[in-house]
Amino acid sequence: NEQFLADYRPYPFDLKQVALEFDLAPAATRVLAALDFQPRESGADLVLDGGKQIKLLSLTIDGAVPDAAHVSRDDETLTIAAAALPSGPFRLETEVQIDPSANTAFEGLYLSGGMFCTQCEAEGFRHITFYPDRPDVMTTFRVLVRSDQPVLLSNGNPVRQEPGLAEWHDPWPKPSYLFALVAGDLVAVSDHFTTRSGRDVALNVWVRPGDQDRAGFAMESLIKSMKWDEDAYGREYDLDVFNIVAVDDFNMGAMENKGLNIFNSKLVLASPDTATDADYERIESVIAHEYFHNWTGNRITCRDWFQLCLKEGLTVFRDQQFTADMRSAAVKRISDVQSLRARQFREDQGPLAHPPRPDHYEEINNFYTATVYEKGAEVIGMLKRLVGDDGYRKSLDLYFQRHDGDAATIEDWLQVFEDATGRDLTQFKRWYTDAGTPRLKMAEDWGDGRLTLRFTQNTPPTPGQPDKPARVIPISVGLIGPNGDEVLPSQILEMTEASQSFSFDGLGARPVVSALRGFSAPVILEREIDDATRAFLLAHDSDPFARWEAGRDLALSALLQLAQGNMAGDDYIAAIGQLIADENADPAFRALCLNLPSEEEIATRLSARGVVPDPDAIHAARTDLARRIAETHEALLSNLYRLMAVPGAYSPDADAAARRSLRIAVLGLLSRIDGGDRAEVLFGTAGNMTERMAALVCLIRRGRGQTALRLLEEEFGDNRLVMDKWFMIQPMVAPVAESVQIAQTLAKRKDFDWKNPNRFRALLGGLAANHAGFHRADGAGYAFTADWLMKMDRANPQIAARMSTAFETWTRYDAGRREKALAALQRMAAMEGISRNLREMVSRMIAAR
Ligand code: ARG
Ligand code: ZN
Repeated sequence: NEQFLADYRPYPFDLKQVALEFDLAPAATRVLAALDFQPRESGADLVLDGGKQIKLLSLTIDGAVPDAAHVSRDDETLTIAAAALPSGPFRLETEVQIDPSANTAFEGLYLSGGMFCTQCEAEGFRHITFYPDRPDVMTTFRVLVRSDQPVLLSNGNPVRQEPGLAEWHDPWPKPSYLFALVAGDLVAVSDHFTTRSGRDVALNVWVRPGDQDRAGFAMESLIKSMKWDEDAYGREYDLDVFNIVAVDDFNMGAMENKGLNIFNSKLVLASPDTATDADYERIESVIAHEYFHNWTGNRITCRDWFQLCLKEGLTVFRDQQFTADMRSAAVKRISDVQSLRARQFREDQGPLAHPPRPDHYEEINNFYTATVYEKGAEVIGMLKRLVGDDGYRKSLDLYFQRHDGDAATIEDWLQVFEDATGRDLTQFKRWYTDAGTPRLKMAEDWGDGRLTLRFTQNTPPTPGQPDKPARVIPISVGLIGPNGDEVLPSQILEMTEASQSFSFDGLGARPVVSALRGFSAPVILEREIDDATRAFLLAHDSDPFARWEAGRDLALSALLQLAQGNMAGDDYIAAIGQLIADENADPAFRALCLNLPSEEEIATRLSARGVVPDPDAIHAARTDLARRIAETHEALLSNLYRLMAVPGAYSPDADAAARRSLRIAVLGLLSRIDGGDRAEVLFGTAGNMTERMAALVCLIRRGRGQTALRLLEEEFGDNRLVMDKWFMIQPMVAPVAESVQIAQTLAKRKDFDWKNPNRFRALLGGLAANHAGFHRADGAGYAFTADWLMKMDRANPQIAARMSTAFETWTRYDAGRREKALAALQRMAAMEGISRNLREMVSRMIAAR
């Protein structure tokens, strides 16, 4: 069932317009569809997508029932033979019946807590009615909804609202994956926005009655996003209304349906006592992301799903720019790189590696990945670095002008840059088509006032791509003099060869090289550098990313030594002491420097160097280093802990959040030596979830979390979002020996509502995030996870497949662990009735054996 990019053919019919009528009922919803087709070529059969759970009640062409011999169905399509079709325009009308109440996959039309809602990307519309469910078939939709639910929403502008009935019309042609419908008992937080050209847009964030007081921040974020897109990209909104709906059962984060964004409730609802600073920041960025899709995704969509990164990479890039503008750009860049390494580098180094634009897949839902999203965004960042800010702006203007209304490709996207800037992007395109993370080696030659940097690039093989030609790599470099002054400000070296040198002349003394500033390319930089030079960069580098990276490398160098049984860490401990005492440095930046690399990151680095990671040794090394930092700097840290307390009422703004983030990082260290006393006080006194959660982590780690956990449960037992945190944190922070047992116990609770994606992700994701716990030597973590993935696969294949990535690193561990992980994977592969989603994932992982 593989799909190939090379097989793309345009759909042989144009779809002129669509009218839909829904009669909503939980177990028997009727859908009437009138599709006006116009053949583009003669003699083509009309093939419509439609799953076998759709009951076809009637079908007519221009009002007449076609000969039954000309209509056929299989599990995934309905075909009307060319012989039964007029040669000119015709109307196809179907009536079908579907059962939203039985839809546990949350794809298509389903129920969430009694409310009707939809998720159609990528291929959910085919579970609603028969349709050419592909992104290059675009048309205008008129939608009539009949239901006794009080609020009835769909895409576009409202045409008619009466008790029991609503009609919506979307004037902008769109593909079916952007269709949405919501019917439920909802209340709105409302506001409005006047666009630059004077259109007044009614804004609503729809939530369940009682949740209104937690929807204000989402609304503020929406208004900021609308303004920002006008200012930064000249993009205005194009309908009279913009609706956002929060739902509790949702497979992903959120969805950009035209004029009717649907969100996982955890990305809408926030109040100081229930949401952390990280939650607030994420809400702001996801609201922005979905809003920005209105231009990059909806007005310009994708020709086919291979082009997914055309909209996702660009929209992630835009939401990253937005957050950088709203908050600290340096801190945002560092956290984005951290998560790129944790998720995308991990993916790129294992059996699931694929290019930002894959050229084949079995199940497209398996490709909503860190590579398509985050690496897709990095590739655009590189493009911008290469063509400059003006070149980027010109190219984007041309993109919107040339492709508005199109279903476009990566080729179209690159062509725009070539035309706007005159640059040849043939070699650059490899970033889209080739998988894997390039290793970039840097060596230095010094003599006679001349510094030469010699770079060599090499990308290890990935599944299906044994050889990797050289890529264009923009390398941002600055030079720092021995006294700490910058002698050469940042400049971009453009590497295009497998090996290439760049020289700098007329230097008085040998400078220290600050390389890959701002993380100018998603590569792994390997350079000969000692800890003293790293400490020098941590003290003097003017580029915040490079400065943070120097501290990171120092910490990693110590941790890698410690994890292999050697003594290390004094240089890092000394250097970090200087940094935390630096009152001029942004508290959020200091917090980032203070947070030690995760155990997962240490394992990834070790295996990239050909060392088999030992999860228990890594855990011990990290624990030991944290304790030594605390012991050495106890006085400094205690002082900082008091200093960073944020007085007054909670506000989620960047400055207050920055202070809290430093305070929490400090608490994490101090709790290693104070037995958890400070954490206990903070848990009891803090009025906000950020500090309470941080305190709870420390308490659990110290083995004294029981009271706090009980208190939290008493206070928030009926708040799903808080309880998700409660379910996640326990297996995640638990001591290695207890984590699986704790997960097992939690899984037996009656509020472990496993069919709810957030709850399932909390528990299974929490365990998977416990590196040494999940990778327990006896395989108990693997077995527990496999059991639950198989159970989930019968209800919701998307979630099962996504969570199976817990296994994506299995090949890097020792033979004993590998054997147990492989057994778990094979057990899943052998499951009767396994979904296409999970089957594709486990077979790709098994193939790496
Ligand atoms: N387009 C959405 C976003 O990035 C993601 C929806 C993906 N849904 C899915 N079932 N694969 O915001
Ligand atoms: Zn997106």
